[in-house]
Amino acid sequence: MLLKDQRILLTGATGGLGSALALELAKSGASLGLVDTEYDQLGELYDKIQPLTDVTTSLADITEAEDQQNIIHDMYSAFGGTDILINNAGIKDFVEFTEQKPAMMDRLLQVNVIAPMQLSRLLLPDMLCRESGHIVNIGSPFGSIASAFFTAYSASKFALRGFSEALRRELDSTQINVTYISPRGIDTANDAQALFNMAEAVKLQPDAADDVARQIVKAIKKEKKEVYIGLNQTITSRVNGLIPRLVDFLAVRRNRIMRQYTHHP
Ligand SMILES: NC(=O)c1ccc[n+]([C@@H]2O[C@H](COP(=O)([O-])OP(=O)(O)OC[C@H]3O[C@@H](n4cnc5c(N)ncnc54)[C@H](OP(=O)(O)O)[C@@H]3O)[C@@H](O)[C@H]2O)c1
Repeated sequence: MLLKDQRILLTGATGGLGSALALELAKSGASLGLVDTEYDQLGELYDKIQPLTDVTTSLADITEAEDQQNIIHDMYSAFGGTDILINNAGIKDFVEFTEQKPAMMDRLLQVNVIAPMQLSRLLLPDMLCRESGHIVNIGSPFGSIASAFFTAYSASKFALRGFSEALRRELDSTQINVTYISPRGIDTANDAQALFNMAEAVKLQPDAADDVARQIVKAIKKEKKEVYIGLNQTITSRVNGLIPRLVDFLAVRRNRIMRQYTHHP
């Protein structure tokens, strides 16, 4: 599928991956609706994208029902509708589960799962009517291989993967595509220091955000159903599905190291 003239709604647009994705999509000639929470950052991103393609912005909290309606309305006003929804906004919390704040747990599930489902639900009737549309959900390796100290985040990404798979099967006989994409660790500079230190200690090599963005755009163009970036992630996800006890065993040493970094000032 060519992205030229596609109307794409991108959440979490000013984040590490979001801004790289916005730039890559703009280069493909798509019209972009950029959604995020910070006025100044959205303005800066708009200034970068606007010379490249048609763009509109929505200052919105995707967990708020009224904001969800406004986002969709903004797309109508600017472009007459939405062809592709990219559910990219996401939050994570690196913490022992017993220390996790209930409000954070709730927020994490709202942002990472409920909001993408709500936005999809709001856009689907129009896509079905037009017999064309694409929903893209940005997952994580923790959506296939649950990780200690990322319990709520893992639960949210498993749910997002489940939602993607179920919706894809439900829409099987329609022209609507659903893609679930799982990037590995990304060098986005927005992560908390504790997360950086832990990643270094367990020797995680993050991917560059613009490389990941290029792979995501390629997957969208090819209308892929599921994409796991990196061979090691592809293999480990399969192994975890088949022999989870082996992954439990292999994770013991890493968990011991990770635990030290959850106790940060
Ligand atoms: N970074 C990684 O290593 C990695 C690896 C695999 C998968 N992923 C996934 O990739 C996606 C992007 O991650 P990232 O690293 O680019 O994260 P990021 O830099 O923190 O960007 C996420 C963006 O989403 C926005 N956002 C959060 N809650 C929102 C809400 N309620 N309404 C609207 N916008 C909201 C954030 O705004 P605020 O800053 O104002 O909250 C931020 O701009 C996420 O789904 C993440 O789970 C990331």
